[in-house]
Amino acid sequence: MRTNYCGLINEHYLDQSVTVKGWVHRRRDHGGVIFIDLRDREGIVQVVIDPDTPEAFARADSSRNEYVLSITGRVRRRPEGTQNDKMISGGIEILAKEIEILNIAATPPFQIDDENLSENVRLTNRVIDLRRPVMQNNMRLRYRVAMAVRRYLDEQGFIDIETPMLTRSTPEGARDYLVPSRVFPGEFFALPQSPQLFKQLLMVAGFDRYYQITKCFRDEDLRADRQPEFTQIDLETSFLNEDEIMDITENMAKSVFKTTLNVDLAAFPRMTFAEAMFLYGSDKPDLRVNLQFTELTEVMKTEEFKVFRAAADMPNGRVVALRVPNGAKLSRKEIDAYTEFVGIYGAKGLAYIKVNDVSNIGNGENSGLQSPIVKFLSEAALKTIIEKTAAQNGDIIFFGADKAKVVNEAIGALRVKIGHEHGKNNGFFVDEWKPLWVVDFPMFEYDEEEDRWTAMHHPFTSPKIGHEDLMDSNPGECLARAYDMVLNGWEIGGGSVRIHRADIQEKVFAALKISPDEQRNKFGFLLDNLKYGAPPHGGLAFGLDRLVTLMTGAESIRDVIAFPKTQRSQDLLVDAPNQVDEKQLRELGLRLRQKAAADEKS
Ligand code: AMO
Ligand code: AMP
Repeated sequence: MRTNYCGLINEHYLDQSVTVKGWVHRRRDHGGVIFIDLRDREGIVQVVIDPDTPEAFARADSSRNEYVLSITGRVRRRPEGTQNDKMISGGIEILAKEIEILNIAATPPFQIDDENLSENVRLTNRVIDLRRPVMQNNMRLRYRVAMAVRRYLDEQGFIDIETPMLTRSTPEGARDYLVPSRVFPGEFFALPQSPQLFKQLLMVAGFDRYYQITKCFRDEDLRADRQPEFTQIDLETSFLNEDEIMDITENMAKSVFKTTLNVDLAAFPRMTFAEAMFLYGSDKPDLRVNLQFTELTEVMKTEEFKVFRAAADMPNGRVVALRVPNGAKLSRKEIDAYTEFVGIYGAKGLAYIKVNDVSNIGNGENSGLQSPIVKFLSEAALKTIIEKTAAQNGDIIFFGADKAKVVNEAIGALRVKIGHEHGKNNGFFVDEWKPLWVVDFPMFEYDEEEDRWTAMHHPFTSPKIGHEDLMDSNPGECLARAYDMVLNGWEIGGGSVRIHRADIQEKVFAALKISPDEQRNKFGFLLDNLKYGAPPHGGLAFGLDRLVTLMTGAESIRDVIAFPKTQRSQDLLVDAPNQVDEKQLRELGLRLRQKAAADEKS
């Protein structure tokens, strides 16, 4: 019988006999004495094996990394100077009496404590990778977060109701994963992109407060914060307005941080979408970075400099400055690297002014400023720039001029990058938790490719009270009762008050150019049920993976998911997706296009 976890044995157990079971983390042969670091989920304990116990010694001698052992022995104090106060078990060791080899192990593909593994190697050998203490900690924090969520929501009267995985296409805006039906050849289920419509129907059914920690599936381009299969903490309430829903979910976030990390989050500030775009160029601003945009569009409308003037005159154009304190010392090479970086977002260049001496502007030569563009700008404009940005000697000012979308994305990303790279040493990065709510989202955004309005959140989101008529007359100005929770620059949750009246829902569908036929075909079940006394309702969904990624400090959400997909949506461990038998396809009434084409040719 195991008496203790390896990693938890401390001085309290001195002189006691213990039995531990775990994996050989490291084995060292000190000429005559063997040391084994035995590892289990709680950590590592040092075991000493003496030749005086010949049987144990022989087994220790034949053990290799990752062998599974059961060891019984006596706890004793480690000799002076060999103690490790970073570990619970760092002051003790076990003098082995008996060793049993429970299983041998092939040589693992890498050392468990190797910090420099490629992600492909890690994901192909995920089981070994998951043995690493970081991964063990990540998965445990994830569990504790989920438990804290369940406890909080249970206390608030939410009940967990499961919703189907085999369902119809749901409109969260990504591509669906489809599942062919055997019974109805040629017909398909879709995996849910979220439980959105089911949770609304549960409100119509009278459950009042629903939640679920559940998988969602979206076939979209992946990034560090996206997986094709991810987990939402999804919730919905009846009869509450947006302020009440935000209160409940903000308190949930606070409760989770308190119980799992012992962190007290202060009240979340609220910022409108418009303000967030104006100041940070982003609807998920990282408020740890203390830099803001300075609006220069109007100023540049009367300047000669083509690059700025053209952008200022565009209907959707924007010119902004970003002042970076102490940035004048940036080298040519660093500025070139930032120029290349903003290029990723479509910026055609990155103009800058180094501010050497603010008192030396406007004397005809502007020697206080160092920049390739100063000669193109009027003295009045230069003075305005210095004034509006409140630039000081030693600063650098970067400029973005283009369509607003490009400027916002490029300079928004630059702001975060510079903040992370130079903010700590120059006083514009605070290393604290910076949550906020972004509110007053637009109802619609214009899809230039498709030449039509699309729902910014989803088509079931209610317009702001008093904005209903704008849906027809001026969709771009119509605001939604939608809100996002943002933490350190990541969108960790989003939700809205929903439409609970069938007539308004039909109006929104119409604004989205969804024809009455299509409405019936796709959402008939929703529209019908809204007619049977749907209560006012609304909710929110958190991205659990994202939340836990931030809480663990991991770099990607793949580090907090036991068996994630790669950037190319593959599972390297089980090698999925993969091909299936011709027989399976036939049963499903399917024939592969590529194969059909090849068959026709031959
Ligand atoms: P939304 O689409 O904003 O809203 O999703 C809610 C939250 O889920 C997380 N998230 C993701 N996490 C990892 N990988 C992904 N591919 C991914 N996509 C989204 C984000 C996001 O904030 N039904 C609505 C919610 C509602 O209105 O109640 C919805 O799904 O953290
Ligand atoms: P050019 O006239 O193209 O040589 O550009 C002059 C300066 O403006 C260079 O420093 C460019 O990096 C910068 N620049 C060019 N296009 C833009 C733009 N769209 N936004 C900001 N800076 C730009």
